[in-house]
Amino acid sequence: MMRGGPVLAVDGPAAAGKGTLAKRLAAELNLPYLDTGLLYRAVGRLVLDAGQDPAAPAEEFARTLKAEDTQRKDLRTQEVARAASQVASQPAVRSALVETQRRFAQARGGVLDGRDIGTAIFPDADVKLFITASPATRALRRFLQMGEDPKAEGATARLAEMAAALQARDAADAGRQTAPMQVAADAVVIETDTLSADAVLAEALRVVQERLGTHAG
Ligand code: DC
Repeated sequence: MMRGGPVLAVDGPAAAGKGTLAKRLAAELNLPYLDTGLLYRAVGRLVLDAGQDPAAPAEEFARTLKAEDTQRKDLRTQEVARAASQVASQPAVRSALVETQRRFAQARGGVLDGRDIGTAIFPDADVKLFITASPATRALRRFLQMGEDPKAEGATARLAEMAAALQARDAADAGRQTAPMQVAADAVVIETDTLSADAVLAEALRVVQERLGTHAG
């Protein structure tokens, strides 16, 4: 399939810094950016709105998904994340969203972040990155992102709860039958525990340069 530009796959577990990196890479390389998690979150949200169990068949919601469903402001909650992970385990939901993702990068290429971009959506991606960090680091990052103060009363318990929720979701995403989260054989793994966002970007750009032989999009 001929594409109008390079495709960069940025996969990894929840709260590892994929989104931050992918957005910055896209800006740096002048490529379109797609947060594919939003597609599954939007489906999960619609399922919850309909009063349906996220474990029940949700293909119809995925097939009729509209752009505005993915632009809602209420997709970042833990409840939606959990529902997203559940609907994402359904093969029919995943296959209903494949074309949307492939079409996104058709005209100009793109940077896509998710779980299965380098393994299932674009096995022929030009660059594959797998961004990860320890569960403790990821839980703390997500905690801070949510505006929580780690020194506040009850913070330790809430942080532990957050870590448990992230780990449960990672286990489900890595353990499902269809397109589980895994490191593609030709992916470069970046461990971000001890790296700043700038250092992660620099490392990613180095990989891009190596793979594409250029910096420019
Ligand atoms: O990236 P995120 O945390 O917003 O993703 C929410 C859920 O969606 C995640 O737990 C699993 C699912 N997902 C997926 O299965 N495949 C993707 N490419 C992106 C997300």
